[in-house]
Amino acid sequence: TEAWGPDDDEPRRHSGPVRIRVPAKINLHLGVGPLRSDGYHELNTVYHAISLFDELTARQGDTLALTMEGEGAGTLALDESNLIIRAARALAARCRVPAHARLHLRKSIPLAAGLAGGSADAAATLIACDLLWGTGMSRDELAEVGASLGSDVPFLLHGGTALGTGHGESVSPILARPTTWHWVVALADGGLSTPEVYAKLDALRESPFPPKALAGADELMGALRQRDPAVLGAALGNDLQPATLALRPDLAAVLDAGTEAGALAALVSGSGPTCVFLAADAGHAERMAATLNDAGVCRDALTARGPMPGARMV
Ligand code: C5P
Repeated sequence: TEAWGPDDDEPRRHSGPVRIRVPAKINLHLGVGPLRSDGYHELNTVYHAISLFDELTARQGDTLALTMEGEGAGTLALDESNLIIRAARALAARCRVPAHARLHLRKSIPLAAGLAGGSADAAATLIACDLLWGTGMSRDELAEVGASLGSDVPFLLHGGTALGTGHGESVSPILARPTTWHWVVALADGGLSTPEVYAKLDALRESPFPPKALAGADELMGALRQRDPAVLGAALGNDLQPATLALRPDLAAVLDAGTEAGALAALVSGSGPTCVFLAADAGHAERMAATLNDAGVCRDALTARGPMPGARMV
């Protein structure tokens, strides 16, 4: 049975409104292999969903319409280029139903931040429209539609902590005893284009340096099982970080400020420019966030917990 779906066999059309909450992600490990012929890089990543959420509400309608409030309102295009519209159209085409819905996004995950906000919204749309249209897709079918929209969409349907391979779209959950990890998330002014960060990494890796082998996630997986934040902190890593710092040298001061504030680890989230810091517990996270906000090194420092469930109805 699906966490978000009806529990009988016949998929039922939800009269609406359907409200879906979806988390942001960070990468506890991001091993990046060579550039593939399809333009993606082979990845070994450990995804982790955190308590920073977007919320998508879907209602029945005679056409496909999108409105939004919050982070990026007025900046984010709401036309056919928007990942929410593209996700709704992709699901409608796959299921041969009209793409009719009135969608409203309440956005808290910043744009182009390395937190997979766009992929999160696409994941929320797939679940919302599946319920609204009664298309009764399985989680795997939605993940298949989602993988063509963004590498992180399948993970944001699952949530939790999970291993991502391929270009990130192939996701398997990591089975570990439940542990809550505490983070500080330092939001930056401005965003970064993911393809530009990958291209910068390719440039940094050009000869005379040998091509980098794809780093496995075994150390990180072992550290997760030990449930000790100091051990996890020592195992966190992001191969994209040198590229992000080359494009945004100002972020070095943010990472330093977090380390000085007592973080167990400091790293760039995904392609950045968001930086994340591991805390020992909730109180430690609150104190670090306050210190970073007082220092004024970032746009805003928030506390967050993980892992969180993936996109689901609330
Ligand atoms: O899949 P997504 O839309 O998030 O990817 C955006 C871009 O980031 C891709 O077009 C590609 O340039 C780069 N990318 C990559 N390798 C990956 C994932 C993304 O090079 N594994």
